[in-house]
Amino acid sequence: MNPQAEELNKIIQEKSSVVFELLSKRGKEIYFPKKGILAQSAEAGKARINATIGTAIEDDGSPMRLESIATKVNLKPEKIFLYAPSYGRPDIRAEWKKMIYKKNPSMTGAEISLPVVTNALTHGISMSGYMFCDATDQVIVPDLFWENYTLTLTNAYGSQLKPYKLFKNDGLDLGSFEQTLNEGAIGKRIVLLNFPNNPAGYTPTKIEQDELVKIIKASAEKGNKIVLLIDDAYFGLGYEAGIATESIFSALCAGHENVLAVKIDGPTKKITFGVFVWVL
Ligand SMILES: Cc1ncc(COP(=O)(O)O)c(C=O)c1O
Repeated sequence: MNPQAEELNKIIQEKSSVVFELLSKRGKEIYFPKKGILAQSAEAGKARINATIGTAIEDDGSPMRLESIATKVNLKPEKIFLYAPSYGRPDIRAEWKKMIYKKNPSMTGAEISLPVVTNALTHGISMSGYMFCDATDQVIVPDLFWENYTLTLTNAYGSQLKPYKLFKNDGLDLGSFEQTLNEGAIGKRIVLLNFPNNPAGYTPTKIEQDELVKIIKASAEKGNKIVLLIDDAYFGLGYEAGIATESIFSALCAGHENVLAVKIDGPTKKITFGVFVWVL
């Protein structure tokens, strides 16, 4: 294992042994190469002469660009035509974090990480697979699910999907969810939650959502260590009285020490962008 990854693992273990245990082998081995080229670039950014990057510039120092493209974009050329920072735009990440609190008022005071930018939600789900899913793991999903979970979690990382029955009568089959979550020996659980659900379009009622939270916390209380991958692709598209208006992430982001909640969301139904937030 690279010493930089070992260093990070030590920090994670000190903060939360649960998060460390939930990471996949890949997740434990990955690291941001802070001592390599990226570190040199960051250092050079502050210097008078930066010779670490090859960027074509105009005589006035602005990025070289095609007029035909530049005239279609109403933003400063430096924000559009240069390399995007490998860690994303810190100002947008901070803004997105603020929006999560604003749209989920009961989260006030809960501590969450700065969102990580991904290339839309599919990439966020794929990165979750990278970080948490080994070939020996199962991912609990509803029996009605977006079929790219198979590609991103099974084809890519070898985890099997373990479905529970989403519906019973006119509502959620909470019993099936609870049974599937608690089946087998106490240990690691990976659970994918997606509301409004694709393909059913269903959002839990507030009562059902509270019940889901109770079931998850009770399972964590028994000793299961649970990582929740919360696919909030359609968050906010709720128009009926009585349905949950906040993401289930709100109640679970600081819900139990054995629960790690990962919120995967973004305005992709409008533009291509995605974020990945995780917190214990
Ligand atoms: C439930 C669900 N999650 C994720 C996605 C993917 O979103 P994106 O286009 O942002 O990758 C979709 C897209 O249809 C979806 O239905």
